[in-house]
Amino acid sequence: MNDQPLRLALIIASTRRGRFGAAIGRWAAGVAAGRPEFAVDVLDLAELHLPADLGGSADAAEFAGRIGDADAILVVTCEYNHGYPASLKLAIDTVRDEWAAKPVAFVSYGGLAGGLRAVEQLRQVLAELHAVTLRDTVSFHSPHDHVDRDGRVTDPALAKSAEAAAHVLFDRLAWWASALRAARTARPYALTG
Ligand SMILES: Cc1cc2nc3c(=O)[nH]c(=O)nc-3n(C[C@H](O)[C@H](O)[C@H](O)COP(=O)(O)O)c2cc1C
Repeated sequence: MNDQPLRLALIIASTRRGRFGAAIGRWAAGVAAGRPEFAVDVLDLAELHLPADLGGSADAAEFAGRIGDADAILVVTCEYNHGYPASLKLAIDTVRDEWAAKPVAFVSYGGLAGGLRAVEQLRQVLAELHAVTLRDTVSFHSPHDHVDRDGRVTDPALAKSAEAAAHVLFDRLAWWASALRAARTARPYALTG
């Protein structure tokens, strides 16, 4: 049995200038940092310049390597026009086999729908890559009034409920990450056929 910490890749999906994603990403990374079973690796897509032609670049290779190293992935995503951001699609398509047999969970944010439509679309896309998406999602609905730029939730009731929901999500993500790490080690996942 592998008792090394589970490697959690935390992807901040939005790259827009003035984005709120950095704040939600800080919040998620802060909660994850309090979970001793995870070693957190923040992958901020605004800092990685992935080429649109999906070609090889140092940043593309680095991103693929860090997804390959991960035992679990947490995607922090917003919603644009009822979908997820193009920067995230580019990142997903840049990597292939490294997603396989890995669990993916979501923290979403947006307007009234809290980014949940983006999450539902991501389930379809990630299934094609043999990733396993979790039922649980932490979603922030119109967070701009309740979360500051440092990722502090300023509404005490929301702070408590969001953190409680995140711990349930991390409990289940750890279960899947540990189970799938053991399974991948015991028998490589078959990607062909
Ligand atoms: C181009 C664009 C489209 C948007 N479409 C939606 C939408 O369909 N549903 C929604 O709930 N919020 C929508 N929003 C609001 C965003 O979810 C919100 O501004 C969020 O902060 C965007 O993430 P970001 O600040 O990290 O870029 C949209 C925002 C932009 C800029």
